[in-house]
Amino acid sequence: MAPSLRVAALAAAAALAPLASAQSLTVDNTTIPATTDTVAPAAANVSTSSSNSTVDLFSSEAVQLTDSVLTNLTALNLSSIDMFTFDDASTASKRSSKCKRSTQCKVMPGNLLYPISLVWDVFGLLLGPGALIKTVPLASPCYTNWNNENTATCAFLTNNWSNDSYIHADDPTSVMWPLYQGATCMPTDEPSNQCTLGGYPSYAVSVSNIAQIQLAVNFARNANLRLVVKNTGHDFNGKSAGAGALSIWTHNLKQIQYYSSLTLNGYTGPAMKLGAGVQAFEMYEAANQYGVTVVGGEGKTVGVMGGYILGGGHSPLSSLYGMAADQVLSMEVVLPNGQFVTASSTSNPDLFWALRGGGGSTFGVVTSVTVKAYPKMQVSVSTFNFVSGGNITADLFWEGIAAYMKYLPTFTDAGTYSYFDIIQIATDTYYFAMAPFFAPKLSQAQLEALIAPLLSDLSALGIPVNALSYWNYDNFYDAWNLHFPLESVGVTTLKTASRLFPRANFEPATGNATLFNETIAAIRYTVEAGSTVLAFNIAANPAGGYPDNAVNPAWRNTVLHAIQAISWDAGSDTATIAAACLKLTNDWQAAWRATCPDAGAYMSEGDILEPNFQQSFYGTANYARLYAYKQQVDPWGLFYAPTGVGSEDWYITGQVTGLPTQNGQLCHV
Ligand SMILES: Cc1cc2nc3c(=O)[nH]c(=O)nc-3n(C[C@H](O)[C@H](O)[C@H](O)COP(=O)(O)OP(=O)(O)OC[C@H]3O[C@@H](n4cnc5c(N)ncnc54)[C@H](O)[C@@H]3O)c2cc1C
Ligand SMILES: *[C@@H]1O[C@H](CO)[C@@H](O)[C@H](O)[C@H]1NC(C)=O
Ligand SMILES: *[C@@H]1O[C@H](CO)[C@@H](O)[C@H](O)[C@H]1NC(C)=O
Ligand SMILES: *[C@@H]1O[C@H](CO)[C@@H](O)[C@H](O)[C@H]1NC(C)=O
Ligand SMILES: *[C@@H]1O[C@H](CO)[C@@H](O)[C@H](O)[C@H]1NC(C)=O
Ligand SMILES: *[C@@H]1O[C@H](CO)[C@@H](O)[C@H](O)[C@H]1NC(C)=O
Ligand SMILES: *[C@@H]1O[C@H](CO)[C@@H](O)[C@H](O)[C@H]1NC(C)=O
Ligand SMILES: *[C@@H]1O[C@H](CO)[C@@H](O)[C@H](O)[C@H]1NC(C)=O
Ligand SMILES: *[C@@H]1O[C@H](CO)[C@@H](O)[C@H](O)[C@H]1NC(C)=O
Ligand SMILES: *[C@@H]1O[C@H](CO)[C@@H](O)[C@H](O)[C@H]1NC(C)=O
Ligand SMILES: *[C@@H]1O[C@H](CO)[C@@H](O)[C@H](O)[C@H]1NC(C)=O
Repeated sequence: MAPSLRVAALAAAAALAPLASAQSLTVDNTTIPATTDTVAPAAANVSTSSSNSTVDLFSSEAVQLTDSVLTNLTALNLSSIDMFTFDDASTASKRSSKCKRSTQCKVMPGNLLYPISLVWDVFGLLLGPGALIKTVPLASPCYTNWNNENTATCAFLTNNWSNDSYIHADDPTSVMWPLYQGATCMPTDEPSNQCTLGGYPSYAVSVSNIAQIQLAVNFARNANLRLVVKNTGHDFNGKSAGAGALSIWTHNLKQIQYYSSLTLNGYTGPAMKLGAGVQAFEMYEAANQYGVTVVGGEGKTVGVMGGYILGGGHSPLSSLYGMAADQVLSMEVVLPNGQFVTASSTSNPDLFWALRGGGGSTFGVVTSVTVKAYPKMQVSVSTFNFVSGGNITADLFWEGIAAYMKYLPTFTDAGTYSYFDIIQIATDTYYFAMAPFFAPKLSQAQLEALIAPLLSDLSALGIPVNALSYWNYDNFYDAWNLHFPLESVGVTTLKTASRLFPRANFEPATGNATLFNETIAAIRYTVEAGSTVLAFNIAANPAGGYPDNAVNPAWRNTVLHAIQAISWDAGSDTATIAAACLKLTNDWQAAWRATCPDAGAYMSEGDILEPNFQQSFYGTANYARLYAYKQQVDPWGLFYAPTGVGSEDWYITGQVTGLPTQNGQLCHV
C-alpha cells in the first residue's frame, strides 16, 4: 500500500487566507503550520553511496522523496487525492488496460479537475523556497498586459533574442525555436499587443535536488497534468514547450565530478559524472581543466546530459569515438512512477538501453550521467570556401561540390568531422563554406595531406579556393572554443529538416556512380529552390566499435548529416508558413529521401512532420522495442514529446496542418 500525503487546509476558508497561516500539516499527531521552515523541502538526506553503482550520488541526488518522508507528512484533508505519492507501474498498467483511456486529455488551467491554487501553494511549500515558478514569458517586459513593462529589458531582448542563446537557456520556459510554442509573446515594439502564455508551460520547477523532481513527477501523474522537461530549450522542434504544463527545469543541476580512474561495469579509465543541467561549454572547460577530452556537441550552450545524449548526441569526436550515448557508463533517473534508480549495464539494463538514443522526455528524468573521458589530444582545423560567378558557372560549382563529397568517406575514415554550408547568395550564384574542417588527433601536416587531393581536384576544375587557413591546437577545448561560433536561435522565419545520408551514396569510384550523381543532384535541386544547407561530414561507426544501445541505426551507416532550411518573410501569415513547412517535408526532403529511402534522420535536429518518424528517427526494430518498454515503464503516458516514442498515441487540439505547435491540449487518441 502506498503511503499517502494528504495536505489539508485547517479552515474551510483556507483557500482565501494568507498562505503561512492557512496551511498546516499533522506530523506524528502534532499539527504544525506548513511553512518553508517546516516542510520545505519534503525530503530526506539519504546516503550518497548508490546501491547499484560504485559512483557516488551528487549531494543534490541524496536529497530524495522516500516512503518514510511521505508517511511522516500526514496532514489534514484538503481533498481525497493522494497527489504527491508514488505509484506502481505494474498495477497501473493492469488498471489502464481494464478501463480504456478513450479520449482522455491532460488537464489544463480552467478545466474543472485542474488543481486549485491552494494545491499549487502546498506544492510550492513541499518543493522549498523559490523552486516553483509561475510562468512569466521571457519577452513579457515588451508588453503592457503583464504589468512588468520595461523598455530597457525589451530593447536588450529584441537585440539579443536571436544571437544570444544564453538568455533562453537561463529562462525557465523559453524555447529557442518559438514557432513550436506558437510564436507567442515575441519581442515587439508594439506594447499594446497581447502577450499570451501560448504553448509555454504554466509552471516550472527549478530543481536543485531529486526530491523536487519526484514531487513534480508524482504530482503531474496523480493530478493528470501535462508534464514537460526543459533543460536548455535547444530542441529543434520545441520539445520542451507544452501549453498548460508543469515543467521540470533541469538547468541548475550543474555538478561535475572527475574520476582519474574509474572502474565501473567492465570499464576502467578516466570518467566524468555530470549533472543534467551542464552545458557543452561548461563540460569542455572542466574536461580541459582535468587534462582530458569528453564527447559532446558542437553548439556552445546546448545541454549535454539531457535531450542531447538521450537522443544519441553527435560530436566533433564522433568519427573517432561514436555518438555521445556510446560513452555512457551509468545514469541516475527519476522514473515515471516517481522512484529514483540507477540505469547501467547491471542496474535496470532495459532502461539503460532505451535511454541511450531513445529520446528525451520519454522514460523518465535523467539527473546525472557518468561518461568515459579520453586523453588530451591535439586538434587541427581548416577553413576555406569557394563560390560561383564570373568564370565559375553553376554547373562547375556543383562539380566542385561533387569533388568534395566523393571524399566524405575518406575524411570520416581519418576520424575527422566537418561543418559546412551551401547557400544560394544571389540568383544562380552559390557559395560553399567549410567552417570548420575539424581534425582531432591530426597534426597540421596530416590535415594538409588529407585535404590535398580535394584541393588538387578543385584546382583541376579551375575553381579557386578562397581563404584557405590552417590551425593546430594541443587540446580539444581551444580548437572547439575558437572555431564554433555562438549559435543563432529564436527565429520564426525558417524551418529545418534533415537526413542521414549513407556512405554508399558517396562512393562513385568503388560503388554506385549513378547513385552518387543522383545524391548531388538532389542537394542541388533543393539549394537551387532556395534551401540553405548546413551539413556535417560525420560518421558514428568508430574503429573501436560501439555498444548495443537505442541510437538510431541510420547513424552507423552515415557520412553526411545534412540539415536544410526553408524560410519565409517576417510577418507571413499562418497559411504561408504552413505551406512552406509542407513544401520542405513533401518536396525538398522527398528529393533527399528518394536517394536513401531506407536511411533515417537525427531526431534532435529533425522535421516535426517527418513521415514515418518511427522508422526514420529510431529504426523499425529499435522502435518496436522502445515502444514496448515505454508501455512497461510509463503506462500512464506521463512523459510526452512530439515525435517521441509513444507520441503517436497522443494529439494536441487545435492544430493547423503543416504547422504543429505545443499550444493546445494534449489528449489521448
Ligand atoms: C544551435 C544548436 C546547436 C546544436 N548542436 C548540436 C550538436 O553539435 N550535436 C547534436 O547532437 N545536437 C546538437 N543540437 C541539437 C540538440 O542535441 C538538441 O537540440 C537537443 O534536444 C538539446 O537537448 P537539451 O537538453 O539541451 O534541450 P531541451 O530542448 O531542453 O530538451 C530536449 C528534449 O530532451 C528532454 N530532456 C531534456 N533534459 C532531460 C532530462 N534530464 N531527462 C529527460 N528528458 C530531458 C526535453 O524534454 C526535450 O524533449 C544543436 C541544437 C542547436 C539549436
Ligand atoms: C496518532 O493518533 C492515533 C489515534 O488518535 C493513534 O492511534 C496513533 O497511535 C497516534 N500516532 C502517534 C505516532 O502518536
Ligand atoms: C541535506 O544535507 C545537506 C548537506 O549536509 C544540507 O545542506 C541540506 O540542507 C540537507 N537537506 C535536507 C533536505 O535535509
Ligand atoms: C519524521 O518526523 C520526525 C519528527 O517530526 C523527524 O524527526 C523525522 O526525521 C522525520 N522522518 C523523515 C524521514 O523525514
Ligand atoms: C475532513 O474531511 C471529512 C470528510 O469529508 C470532514 O468530515 C472533516 O470535517 C474534514 N476535516 C477538516 C479539518 O476539514
Ligand atoms: C545585447 O547583449 C549584449 C551582451 O551580450 C549587451 O552588451 C548589449 O547591450 C545587448 N544589446 C542591447 C541592445 O541591449
Ligand atoms: C547580439 O547583437 C547585439 C546587437 O544587435 C550585440 O550588442 C550583442 O553583443 C550580440 N550578442 C552576442 C552574444 O553576440
Ligand atoms: C538495482 O538493480 C536491480 C536489478 O537490475 C534493479 O531492479 C533495481 O531497480 C536497481 N536499484 C536501483 C536503486 O537502481
Ligand atoms: C577562373 O578564373 C580564375 C582566376 O582568374 C582562374 O584561376 C581559374 O582557373 C578560372 N577557372 C575557369 C574554370 O576558367
Ligand atoms: C556522373 O556525373 C559526372 C559529372 O557530371 C559524369 O561525368 C558521369 O558520367 C556521371 N556518371 C554516371 C554513372 O551517371
Ligand atoms: C545504383 O543506384 C541507382 C540509383 O539509385 C539504382 O537504380 C541502381 O540499381 C544502383 N545500382 C546498383 C548496382 O546497385
